[in-house]
Amino acid sequence: MSKKIDIIKHELFAIIGNCGDELNMSTFVIGGWVRDSILKHKKNEIEFDIVSDGDGILLAKKVAKRLKLNKISIFKTFGTASLNYKDIKLEFNGARKESYHHSSRNPKVEKGSIKDDQKRRDFTINAMAISLNKKNYGEFFDPFNGLKDLKQKLIRTPLEPTKTYSDDPLRMMRAIRFATTLEFKIESSSFNAIKENKNRLSIIKQERITEELNKIILSNKPSTGFDLLSKTGLLKIFFPELDLLHGTETINGMTHKDNFYHTLKVLDNVSQKSSSLWLRWSALLHDIAKPNTKRFNKKTGWTFHGHEHLGSKMVYHIFKRLKLPLNEHMKYVQKLVLLHLRPIALSKENVTDSGIRRLLFDAKNDIDDLMLLCNADITSKNDYKVKKYKKNLEIVSKKLVDLEKRDNIRNWQPPINGSVIMKQLKLQGGKSNPDDGKKIAVIKEKIKDAILDGKIKNEFKEAEELMYQIAKELGINY
Ligand code: CTP
Repeated sequence: MSKKIDIIKHELFAIIGNCGDELNMSTFVIGGWVRDSILKHKKNEIEFDIVSDGDGILLAKKVAKRLKLNKISIFKTFGTASLNYKDIKLEFNGARKESYHHSSRNPKVEKGSIKDDQKRRDFTINAMAISLNKKNYGEFFDPFNGLKDLKQKLIRTPLEPTKTYSDDPLRMMRAIRFATTLEFKIESSSFNAIKENKNRLSIIKQERITEELNKIILSNKPSTGFDLLSKTGLLKIFFPELDLLHGTETINGMTHKDNFYHTLKVLDNVSQKSSSLWLRWSALLHDIAKPNTKRFNKKTGWTFHGHEHLGSKMVYHIFKRLKLPLNEHMKYVQKLVLLHLRPIALSKENVTDSGIRRLLFDAKNDIDDLMLLCNADITSKNDYKVKKYKKNLEIVSKKLVDLEKRDNIRNWQPPINGSVIMKQLKLQGGKSNPDDGKKIAVIKEKIKDAILDGKIKNEFKEAEELMYQIAKELGINY
């Protein structure tokens, strides 16, 4: 039995319904907007998915004319069109049956009824439709009980799950993404179908997979998604380095922690404090090189020496393969992975000004994010240890603030640059003078070290004096 639903109050719906009436088409809003409205989830970007039992492009053109919109994007092969009205995106489709080719997710399109169109959708919660025509405005069409699944928090496919996933394997990622962002459960036959069809993911473009992955990472509790990705076997296919973090090993009664679950805990901890995608990526990758650097030492037990260096190098390869941007975001992640041990290492020793200055110099404006990551990295079950590490990090944080006030290292620029050194010491730069080039580099490095070690002040005069002193030591005649 159909019923009316009272969420359909947007001014545009009556206009679209009216255009549908004039073209003699049954017209509906369907998919994500219906789902999110019932859930009362507000989104930054509003998108209406409109489906009609006639030509979707024709309907889009009529709506565009009514709204006095000149720009319309038409995708003839798919029979779809889209419009932008104020900050709302409108997608128009003609109702269709779809049959997919086994090696591609691009469907062969055939006209169909609204029920056919609902059947071809990914999940029951995304297949609910509401009529926009005048005669039954607001009538709710839910042939697969999406509303019930929404209430029971279930991800279920309208058809036999193997068919739905095999038709479009991206849906396996979407199932996990929705389960994570909505905090729903994937119904068991669906879950098993994902496991069985996991290798079909290979026909999906990496960009689409990564888009879903980023949505998982940006959720409130990303660990849920990664656990599901791992348990279904999907993770191994597109992100084997992360999957390799699984497992513990014991030698002589000494066991190291499971780095997969540790990483997920760190990711969740960071996610509670920050919504930055790239800080979350840093958490995900901070221990990525642990499997490659794992050693057992009879005296000290398990070690992962250099995992921060190797991990930082791995970032580029992972970003490249996952088609993530190879820009300043990647550099930021590399930096955080490389530095993630430094604040804790520093706090184990006597916290010196020099150590703090060096940390500030290396982290620069990302120091607050680095400290957040370090705090999130404390996942020990031993309360005593947790308290001790957190207290130590607090001491480091206080010193950072204190030193930054005095020295302003965060935006540090050397008080003497290469061209001043060249001019005052009559040195030549460039490829033709590699010896001079080396000397300039040594002088710069020594001045930097002296400032960071607090031997001279961060100012021109003292740096200049030191420059002449080093020049003498190097036997430079100026
Ligand atoms: N859809 C599908 N299979 C896909 C992608 C989408 O069946 N691989 C259908 C679903 O009915 C979905 C609708 O197309 O609701 C619109 O897709 P999209 O805009 O990608 O997702 P939304 O459901 O709107 O959700 P979100 O905006 O959160 O991505």
